[in-house]
Amino acid sequence: MPASPWWHGAVLYQLYVRSWRDSNADGYGDIPGILAGLDHLSWLGVDGIWLSPTMPSPDEDWGYDVSDYTGVHPELGTMADLDALIAAAARSGMWVLLDLVPNHTSSAHPWFIDAAASRDSAHRDYYVWADAAPGGGPPNNWLDATGHSAWQWDARTGQYYLHNFLVGQPDLNWWLPAVHAEFRDILEFWFDRGVAGFRIDVAHGLYKDAELRDNPPLAPGSSELDGRFGLRPLYNSGRPETHGVFRDWRKIADSYSPPRLLLGETWVGDTARLASYYGSNDELQLAFNFPFAFTPFEAPALARVISDTLAALPAGACPVWMGSNHDIGRFPSRWCHGEEQLIRLALLVLLMLPGATMLYYGDEIGMTDVDVPPELRRDDMTRNAANPRGNRDRGRTPLRWDDSPGAGFTAAGVRPWLPLPSGSGPNVAAQRADTQSVLWLCKQLIAIRHTEIGSEVPELELLPGPAGLLAYQAGGLVVAANLSEQPAEVPAQAGQLLLATGPQARPASVLPPWQGIVARSRP
Ligand code: GLC
Ligand code: CA
Repeated sequence: MPASPWWHGAVLYQLYVRSWRDSNADGYGDIPGILAGLDHLSWLGVDGIWLSPTMPSPDEDWGYDVSDYTGVHPELGTMADLDALIAAAARSGMWVLLDLVPNHTSSAHPWFIDAAASRDSAHRDYYVWADAAPGGGPPNNWLDATGHSAWQWDARTGQYYLHNFLVGQPDLNWWLPAVHAEFRDILEFWFDRGVAGFRIDVAHGLYKDAELRDNPPLAPGSSELDGRFGLRPLYNSGRPETHGVFRDWRKIADSYSPPRLLLGETWVGDTARLASYYGSNDELQLAFNFPFAFTPFEAPALARVISDTLAALPAGACPVWMGSNHDIGRFPSRWCHGEEQLIRLALLVLLMLPGATMLYYGDEIGMTDVDVPPELRRDDMTRNAANPRGNRDRGRTPLRWDDSPGAGFTAAGVRPWLPLPSGSGPNVAAQRADTQSVLWLCKQLIAIRHTEIGSEVPELELLPGPAGLLAYQAGGLVVAANLSEQPAEVPAQAGQLLLATGPQARPASVLPPWQGIVARSRP
């Protein structure tokens, strides 16, 4: 039997670089700051780190508008810093993933500057250009991420270009073989430097309908994952041709030792489409489970999405679970309303599911969203979002390391790029000094996961119980989370108790409201 890939059973950590640790007192987290704080992650037991965009960028979308795919953003550090981080992480048993943005570039990328210079330029077809509609106006009804037309008129060359996100993020034309060749080189450039893999931005994007057909209306009652602004993005995302790109990249990833990891941002609303990005185990090795992240934190709904996911994935595939990220905000707010008992339960659920789990920085201390006042917001894409939950800055604020004036994030007196969470909230140092803290619970859960599950992706069997109880058996463990106000019986399959999220109940066969346990299965 070949050894399991390192990400099976792994705990991954999304590190939003600008908000983690600032080494040079400019108010932005940076790569030397990660090096300085790395011990926190190895102490916690993290296996791999995904760095949010590190490449040069004008930062209209904080690095998701790349102007150089083989560089390091000068504000974040140098290539030598990144090499040093990869080496230091490896010494502590951690892998480093970068964020790759293949759906679009920045309009400041040399390819686009050349493409926009004339209709005959060498890079013209790297992007999606189209004539105005017969009666004038944009070529079709596609909308960008802000709800405006996804087409920008370019007066110089008399055509529109496509941008599914901001005007400054022109979409690449994946029908062009030269674009494939560029990205193969980019993959190899970073893999050769020891990067363990990529989180792939907008992995459900890339190809667009060749005929540029209009998107159909969104069915009433659809979720945010199915579409927005009244349209279902049938023709500007999720195109079948995109799977061919991942089959190609998978061959490249698998040609390295150890194989490199492709982890997709697969923004789809159902588990069947999610599973399609795994192919027949020949596309992405991990695809982010947004249907899970968007599920209400209620036992029946969670049980359903967990079993649907496991049923949908191809045999041998590894699911990946997460509750927070830099777009959707933090689960301690969304699922748990800031209540510690619930945050502990959510960590139990996230860290005890078979597969891989991605924690977002701050999840480990139960950090909640921060209400960023309009004048301090930095995200242009959601600055004017109709719904306040739509604003993304709330989930991107700096990590509180301690209770000093700069919170251990930056130097005293420096204004951080986004406001620090309130001083009365959690911080790393205080929680590290308290073995009853959320941070210690998180560390213990990770340790249990490593020793009891290891790099297996065990079968999961849901256990019957009252409606508010989420209980299952997987790989020699019984996990029970009481997501209700009523006490519940601990499942009969539970043997030796390994951990409880709250004080041990008496009698031990009863799970108090909003508490959970993990136990060894009875022999
Ligand atoms: C992804 C990123 C998001 C970014 C968008 C455009 O959804 O996670 O932050 O704005 O892609 O690149
Ligand atoms: Ca800095």
